[in-house]
Amino acid sequence: MRRSASLLQVLLVFTTMVKTQWSTVSGIYCKEMSPNVYRPHSVTITEFGAIGDGVTLNTKAFRNAIFYLNSFADKGGAQLFVPAGKWLTGSFGLISHLTLSLDKDAVIIGSPDSSDWPVVDPLPSYGRGRELPGKRHQSLIFGSYLTDVIITGANGTIDGQGAIWWGWFHNHTLNYTRPHLVELMYSTNVVISNLTFKNSPFWNIHPVYCSQVLVQHVTILAPLNSPNTDGIDPDSSTNVCINHCYVKNGDDVIAIKSGWDEYGISFAHPSSNISISNITGETRGGAGIAFGSEMSGGISEVRAEGLRVVNSLQGIRIKTAPGRGGYVKNVYIADVSMYNVSIAIRISGNFGEHPDDKYDRNALPMISNITIKDVVGVNVGVAGILEGIHGDNFSNICLSNVSLSVQSAHPWNCSLIEGYSNSVIPESCEQLRSNCRQTSDCYDGSSSSATHGQEPRDTLSTSQLLNPLMKFTLF
Ligand SMILES: *[C@@H]1O[C@H](CO)[C@@H](O)[C@H](O)[C@H]1NC(C)=O
Ligand SMILES: *[C@@H]1O[C@H](CO)[C@@H](O)[C@H](O)[C@H]1NC(C)=O
Ligand SMILES: *[C@@H]1O[C@H](CO)[C@@H](O)[C@H](O)[C@H]1NC(C)=O
Ligand SMILES: *[C@@H]1O[C@H](CO)[C@@H](O)[C@H](O)[C@H]1NC(C)=O
Ligand SMILES: *[C@@H]1O[C@H](CO)[C@@H](O)[C@H](O)[C@H]1NC(C)=O
Ligand SMILES: *[C@@H]1O[C@H](CO)[C@@H](O)[C@H](O)[C@H]1NC(C)=O
Ligand SMILES: *[C@@H]1O[C@H](CO)[C@@H](O)[C@H](O)[C@H]1NC(C)=O
Ligand SMILES: *[C@@H]1O[C@H](CO)[C@@H](O)[C@H](O)[C@H]1NC(C)=O
Ligand SMILES: *[C@@H]1O[C@H](CO)[C@@H](O)[C@H](O)[C@H]1NC(C)=O
Ligand SMILES: *[C@@H]1O[C@H](CO)[C@@H](O)[C@H](O)[C@H]1NC(C)=O
Ligand SMILES: *[C@@H]1O[C@H](CO)[C@@H](O)[C@H](O)[C@H]1NC(C)=O
Repeated sequence: MRRSASLLQVLLVFTTMVKTQWSTVSGIYCKEMSPNVYRPHSVTITEFGAIGDGVTLNTKAFRNAIFYLNSFADKGGAQLFVPAGKWLTGSFGLISHLTLSLDKDAVIIGSPDSSDWPVVDPLPSYGRGRELPGKRHQSLIFGSYLTDVIITGANGTIDGQGAIWWGWFHNHTLNYTRPHLVELMYSTNVVISNLTFKNSPFWNIHPVYCSQVLVQHVTILAPLNSPNTDGIDPDSSTNVCINHCYVKNGDDVIAIKSGWDEYGISFAHPSSNISISNITGETRGGAGIAFGSEMSGGISEVRAEGLRVVNSLQGIRIKTAPGRGGYVKNVYIADVSMYNVSIAIRISGNFGEHPDDKYDRNALPMISNITIKDVVGVNVGVAGILEGIHGDNFSNICLSNVSLSVQSAHPWNCSLIEGYSNSVIPESCEQLRSNCRQTSDCYDGSSSSATHGQEPRDTLSTSQLLNPLMKFTLF
């Protein structure tokens, strides 16, 4: 009796503690998530009339189940369990203190009818979407202003049935920008893990204006020729950790973003403290790790280690253009292997693609403190195409211990960049050799909180931090 009477009070205390720990313990968001996240209430989607036959539309069942679970949000949270089966649905929204858990052979399938994906306003940092008149389709799974959300499963699948959307895209019959598979906005303490994402209409996983986000043990698959099927796009988000993922898709494996031209500049939400490790990717149209092209709110403090990129167009990529403004700085990328990659490193100051013609051509991006080291590449087409912007040199571009077996007779093509290099094979371009005594100016990743993120599995699990009740049961 006493225990339950004081439960709410205890929860309040622990919720506060959780917040404190997230913000003060740097890199804590990178810890391995425990599979045993305790939620005191759990329901199965079939209790809400869902039928897993791949034909019946279950949007109402998902919405009703989550509406019902809302009443447990202040009681330690709840789990929505999706058992084995094929669960066709339109878009549905999540709530705080929720675990969406898929069984091993559970497949959530996106409806092929575009009217099951509601039309919503564009993001404030993007202006219009890609398709006029500026609206966009809601993501299959979405949420705003949430905290303590876990989307997980025993490698269950979320399949967007993107082919029909790619068709509409190619034959110009889309009315609105295509949807993502998962998009969380303005949310914190988010875990996405142990799932397979397939055939997204557009980007797969899109945390935007979020903080404390962990994405791990995720497989992302889309045809190599599918348009814009980015894997994971942290966007205007901070304290994001992505690890142990396998991605094979049509566009960037991971793309860090922060808004588009004048909209991103005025919204001014940077992406920072991003930690990435142990990622394997294969992309026909993109890069293993990309920055931009939408980077107008700024991107900084990024640490990526343990990237394998195979059979891909590009390995490491920075995309920007006059009009973007913003910055990409303090980026540390190490321990990269590439096999059969057309362009190992590409920095483009002329990427183009503007939301409208109101962008400010004088808004030049600042690209500085980019360190790329310990790279091995076999069967690489071109080592690097590194191009800055007239009147806006990209600076402190540092390459160290980069060894590429390159087919081209002109392995490097550099312009309007400055920086340093050592132990680069084939020998780097002149622009990176002139000041090679100043390698101490190279960014070494140390100001990034993410440096603490690479510790091996810690006993203090993310779930314990996420779930106040879990904490409670420990006492
Ligand atoms: C996710 O998968 C990894 C690797 O297979 C496993 O170690 C971990 O316990 C799983 N986590 C959850 C939450 O199921
Ligand atoms: C998860 O499923 C995908 C797709 O079937 C598969 O490629 C991958 O190996 C599986 N991952 C794990 C950890 O079982
Ligand atoms: C456009 O693509 C959609 C989806 O693939 C298809 O259903 C439709 O028939 C196509 N329309 C035209 C005009 O080609
Ligand atoms: C675009 O709008 C037209 C007219 O309302 C509609 O017939 C068509 O199905 C819509 N296209 C898509 C891809 O939703
Ligand atoms: C890297 O991630 C893959 C899943 O993509 C996993 O199978 C493997 O064990 C991880 N390796 C390390 C060293 O953690
Ligand atoms: C190399 O990658 C390209 C795609 O970029 C692919 O078409 C080709 O089959 C790959 N070659 C090998 C030997 O894997
Ligand atoms: C150079 O990079 C390779 C590949 O990451 C690594 O194995 C090697 O130890 C590095 N060499 C030095 C001197 O750091
Ligand atoms: C280097 O790139 C510039 C601009 O893209 C191009 O005009 C030039 O031909 C390239 N040089 C070589 C040697 O490939
Ligand atoms: C820009 O960098 C180039 C080398 O890429 C250098 O020659 C030039 O002087 C630099 N411009 C300025 C204004 O520093
Ligand atoms: C670049 O890195 C150096 C050394 O880590 C640091 O002192 C400097 O402030 C950084 N520059 C920017 C623009 O952040
Ligand atoms: C990034 O991490 C550093 C060091 O842990 C921390 O001081 C800073 O507040 C973090 N930045 C954001 C935006 O959370």
